[in-house]
Amino acid sequence: MKDSFGRTIDYLRLSVTDRCNLRCRYCMPDEGVPSLQHGEVLSYEELLRVAAAAGRLGVRKIRVTGGEPLVRKGIVGFIRQLSELPSRPELTLTTNGLQLAELAGPLKEAGLDRVNVSLDTLREERFVAITRREGLQRVLAGLEAAEAAGLTPLKVNMVPIRGVNADEIVDFARLTLKRGWEVRFIEFMPVAGELDYTPENRFPAQAIMEELSRLGMLLPIHRQGPAGPAKLFRYPEGKGRLGVIPAVSNHFCGDCNRLRVTADGKIRPCLFCSDEIDLRQVLRGSGADAELEELLRFAAGVKPERHHMDDPGFKQEGRKMQGIGG
Ligand code: GTP
Ligand code: 5AD
Ligand code: SF4
Repeated sequence: MKDSFGRTIDYLRLSVTDRCNLRCRYCMPDEGVPSLQHGEVLSYEELLRVAAAAGRLGVRKIRVTGGEPLVRKGIVGFIRQLSELPSRPELTLTTNGLQLAELAGPLKEAGLDRVNVSLDTLREERFVAITRREGLQRVLAGLEAAEAAGLTPLKVNMVPIRGVNADEIVDFARLTLKRGWEVRFIEFMPVAGELDYTPENRFPAQAIMEELSRLGMLLPIHRQGPAGPAKLFRYPEGKGRLGVIPAVSNHFCGDCNRLRVTADGKIRPCLFCSDEIDLRQVLRGSGADAELEELLRFAAGVKPERHHMDDPGFKQEGRKMQGIGG
């Protein structure tokens, strides 16, 4: 499917829940955010219809997101159903890793191809400070389990925040010397609105690159496959790769290939614009498959050319990250 700027849309991010078992400071307040009611969330059957329609329109990759997707009951069975779609998309999932130690094997067996794990610190006390929950050891065990299960190439997402964890960039980078992981550093984005986000906390891609250079020479990797948000590098002796996602400063909107569907069934053509298209109404109304396809095509048609997050005074309206799925 093409959008109105000629970009090919072949990647769908499906959020299966807005709930999460962490409370990352940059994502939500301690008390959490009001959760969707059970009936508001798309059922697996509905999500599957959306995925099937997207497959007919040429979507080749589905990423399951949240909140935290592994907290939704029946997630392994849902992955299995996705893997049985006639389009057999590439199946990936973004998780905080808390439940991966138990679920990596079953997910792989169900047909999941790989996972991206969000982890912002390698220090126990900081993990608690950032996520307001215990769990670093479980996440680390989850990473091992994911690799052992073959959910590879395994990617680790780290969001460096000045004064919080940016001093750990080198520690994360060091992981790629011994492990074949792709460790990616994501520019902190103003998606959480006023929540603990201040311009002083920003740690731009340029500063990330300078930190990475302290550990060794950065060799650029030119990718063969489809473009993604990360610029890739490796150290001469490294087993793994480093990625820098300049989400704010150097947007990759020109190559953007994705649509998002929120847990309550809204298509979000862009992470940063709050215009949404209601799929749920169609799914629960007379909604024929043709109508679903029409709506997905419409969403691709209204996908904006670029985000305006780096404009002075930008403020994200509406949903926060946990409600969009990153
Ligand atoms: P793969 O490249 O397939 O591994 O996945 P991905 O990078 O698309 O998925 P992941 O969930 O790991 O996303 C990494 C981060 O990139 C997200 O958390 C966002 O911070 C950022 N990102 C993803 N999509 C967009 C987008 O459309 N716009 C912007 N600005 N940032 C995005
Ligand atoms: N800026 C950048 N990345 C963020 N994530 C969540 N909130 C933000 C933000 N404000 C990341 C998580 C996860 C991914 C889905 O989104 O760390 O890796
Ligand atoms: Fe949960 Fe991810 Fe938000 Fe952290 S950033 S609270 S893991 S949804």
